[in-house]
Amino acid sequence: MTASISDQLLTWYDQHARDLPWRLAPGAALPEDPAWPYRVWLSEVMLQQTTVAAVKPYFAKFTETWPTVEALAAAPEDAIMAAWAGLGYYSRARNLVKCAKAVAERGGFPSTEAELRALPGLGDYTAAAIAAIAFGERAVVVDANVERVVARLFAIAEPLPGARKAIRAAADTITPQQRAGDFAQAMMDLGAQICTSRAPRCLICPLSGPCAGRKAGEPERLPVKPAKKAVPERRGTAFWITRGSEVWLVTRPGTGMLGGMRALPDDGWSAREDGSGEVPLAGEWRELGAVRHGFTHASLTLRVIALETADAPEGEGQWWPVERIAEAGLATLFLKAAQLALASD
Ligand code: ADE
Repeated sequence: MTASISDQLLTWYDQHARDLPWRLAPGAALPEDPAWPYRVWLSEVMLQQTTVAAVKPYFAKFTETWPTVEALAAAPEDAIMAAWAGLGYYSRARNLVKCAKAVAERGGFPSTEAELRALPGLGDYTAAAIAAIAFGERAVVVDANVERVVARLFAIAEPLPGARKAIRAAADTITPQQRAGDFAQAMMDLGAQICTSRAPRCLICPLSGPCAGRKAGEPERLPVKPAKKAVPERRGTAFWITRGSEVWLVTRPGTGMLGGMRALPDDGWSAREDGSGEVPLAGEWRELGAVRHGFTHASLTLRVIALETADAPEGEGQWWPVERIAEAGLATLFLKAAQLALASD
């Protein structure tokens, strides 16, 4: 009898698992330590839409600064937002804060997928991943890597996003009762290292035998992606306002674009609209150039203009030492704008 797909994959994982800071060794017993589900949760939130290489330093910084969910829940929100700066998709950091508070209040993470799903700011994927990886519950964990592996393994040719239901159902059929966390992470590693988007390495794949996509030929064509929509072009202006050795920074409001992040003031552009171009102070503004930035929903050209002044602009904000701008926790877009300003000094 040939081994099941999950057995073949787990045997491969036992030898080839990536050694990552938020992981146990393959087959290791799950720790009782309450910091364990915290680390799994934090890593899974960080890894959404973000590469392992980009996440590693952030995971190290967060777990060093806030080693437990209670510590994170007690931290000032602006310190968390500043520590997240550069990782992108900032709504994840706001949800992280909400979720940490709820978990600390209830005295720790719940251990089932259904209870995890009920926590604020924690979605289907994360609930399944924590249930499987942190608590060993049999849960079907499907991220973009797993989606690709399963679409190929079962030759699911329906285009995304419609194919998600069939992909999930197929993933369910191969998820084992035991070692569900190792199985999920083995699928992720296979997707990241062997069953890659382009040029999959079928010759060394542990699942090439049962792979229907390989048999059908051109597995790299799966999963079929929907046609890409052109993203709109947006224009805005950011203001580099200095008073001697300090620059004026604001905190972006609430839940909007880059909400809660420290930023340069700007003219109100968002991913949905162009900016007004209006300046917040009268004076002799200097043109510094422009930076480009891609968001999911728009591409932005942000013009940067500068003013030296003795007056603070209206509204909330703070003077920040220019030489310490790297510590301000600016989102990448505003860091680019600040770098442009510094380069033109
Ligand atoms: N991507 C999402 N979760 C992951 C994990 N636990 N290991 C590696 N890559 C991942």
